[in-house]
Amino acid sequence: MKTNLKKIGVLTSGGDAPGMNAAIRAVVRACVFYDKECVGIYRGYQGLVEGDFTLLGARSVKNIINKGGTFLKSARSKDFMTPEGREKAFYHLKDNEIDALIVIGGDGTFTGASVFNEEFDFPIVGIPGTIDNDINGTDFTIGYDTALNTVVEAIDKIRDTANSHNRLFLVEVMGRNAGDIALNAGIGAGAEEILIPEENLGKDRLVESLSKSRKSGKTSSIVVVSEGDQIGKNIFELAQYIESNLNDYEVRVTVLGHIQRGGSPSCYDRVLASRLGVGAVDVLLANKKDVMVGVKHKKIVVTSFKEAIEGTNEIDWDLLKVADIISI
Ligand code: F6P
Repeated sequence: MKTNLKKIGVLTSGGDAPGMNAAIRAVVRACVFYDKECVGIYRGYQGLVEGDFTLLGARSVKNIINKGGTFLKSARSKDFMTPEGREKAFYHLKDNEIDALIVIGGDGTFTGASVFNEEFDFPIVGIPGTIDNDINGTDFTIGYDTALNTVVEAIDKIRDTANSHNRLFLVEVMGRNAGDIALNAGIGAGAEEILIPEENLGKDRLVESLSKSRKSGKTSSIVVVSEGDQIGKNIFELAQYIESNLNDYEVRVTVLGHIQRGGSPSCYDRVLASRLGVGAVDVLLANKKDVMVGVKHKKIVVTSFKEAIEGTNEIDWDLLKVADIISI
């Protein structure tokens, strides 16, 4: 591999996701393997702006493959959004003789990377790490699989109560504007209805469908609501609407919130993170930049930051059909 790169920086930015530690570990060890230095940058772009760096070796990342969160910590940096902040970041990179960066995060992270690359022509490669699975150019993002399992486990427990009390539960899940978590966890947990931002079911059709399933003999129901869904955006208002238009059930709301972002990563996420960490170093050493590494159809692929952010990772419409059929 012909490259002049000697020192590579790595950071995690945006919402944390299970598997980020495994990705950092893979980046660091790939650097060691290729005889490159690796510098960890704390608190994402904020640490870059402030020059909060630490040298990492193979043993610095021991015993973290199984840990949730990110030991480098994460942030949504306001300073990096300003030209002055990015100037400071560039200064610290040069001052520490860092030749290239690997950024682990979601669309906000890649937007920042793309702007920085445009301004300073600085080599950056991205690794998709977000529970939302909303990045184009990879079948799955790091953290998504673990989050799905967390949601399914939580809904399994909620189902016990729903069943014991003949109740209807609205369960809000994360995902921002993407319905992947809701749709897949909804199917996995056997939800009666799944509300996702990509499809506007409408309040009345929802009530009608719940009423139909009540009449068919169901005594309790679970509705999984994606936080970005049009009618589910305010889940408490939706609960009131259902209660006043459907007399069959007492309605309860559970917002799963940030438990979806924590916990030990699944084996799938650990393997994905390890592949993408090594893949990102390979791509940098092949002199590519301004791109994200992903896995599509089991192969490592490279997508420009622009495409990764702008192209939408389409929802699987066949799955919606499956959800409708199996919930009758
Ligand atoms: O992008 C990950 C995510 O967890 C989204 O699903 C959610 O909308 C958002 O981050 C929450 O962000 P914060 O942790 O800043 O409240």
